[in-house]
Amino acid sequence: MKMRIDIISAVPQLLESPLQNSIPARAVEKGLAEVCIHNLHDYGLGKYKQVDDYQFGGGAGMVLMPEPLAACIETLKAERDYDEIIYLTPDGSTLDQSTCNTLSLCKNLMLICGHYKGIDQRIRDLYVTCEISIGDYVLSGGEIAAIVLTDSLLRLIPGVLGNEESALTDTFQDGLLAPPLYTRPAEFKGIPVPEILLSGDHKKIEEWRMEKAIEKTQSLRPDLWNDSVDEK
Ligand code: ADE
Repeated sequence: MKMRIDIISAVPQLLESPLQNSIPARAVEKGLAEVCIHNLHDYGLGKYKQVDDYQFGGGAGMVLMPEPLAACIETLKAERDYDEIIYLTPDGSTLDQSTCNTLSLCKNLMLICGHYKGIDQRIRDLYVTCEISIGDYVLSGGEIAAIVLTDSLLRLIPGVLGNEESALTDTFQDGLLAPPLYTRPAEFKGIPVPEILLSGDHKKIEEWRMEKAIEKTQSLRPDLWNDSVDEK
């Protein structure tokens, strides 16, 4: 199954380069995903293709108008059924690995990027099915958040990563932070690689990695550790 992600943006240039490189580009080249960027200005109003306006009631910052967004969303919806229509916004629910895992099973996703202050509430009421934040801080727009979400989903599609870089061993995938990593040389600035990693004993290495992952999670992310203990 090929995953398709449609991204609506008033600043599509912000989306291009990250999707044309590394793992996201590989997902597309391998035919496992399709990412289509839609320029909101193509649906803008009047001679100047206006897409934003002042807020009713006053207040700083422009708001994306409902008509161009609705026209773009409806054009896309006429072509396919979407599993979710996602609005990236700091007041959405915070993205985590479990949400990424769930969304990575979807066939068609539409992502809406706000810019400036955000989008007209009526678009959220009428079309949006899911609101996602990438953290408790404010970005200039949803584009960078859409890239974060897209990247996190594409790398989970089976076949995008090679076996040797499987997403199953990622930090968070088992509720734990990843153990420390080492590569050549075996000694660097007087610091040797832990001997066990050079032993060739895969069982012992796995045990060591698990032990380190637990130690690291307990010390750096006690919140994650307590959640995983609660689940067991
Ligand atoms: N748009 C602006 N800030 C954002 C955030 N933190 N997450 C998602 N979308 C955003």
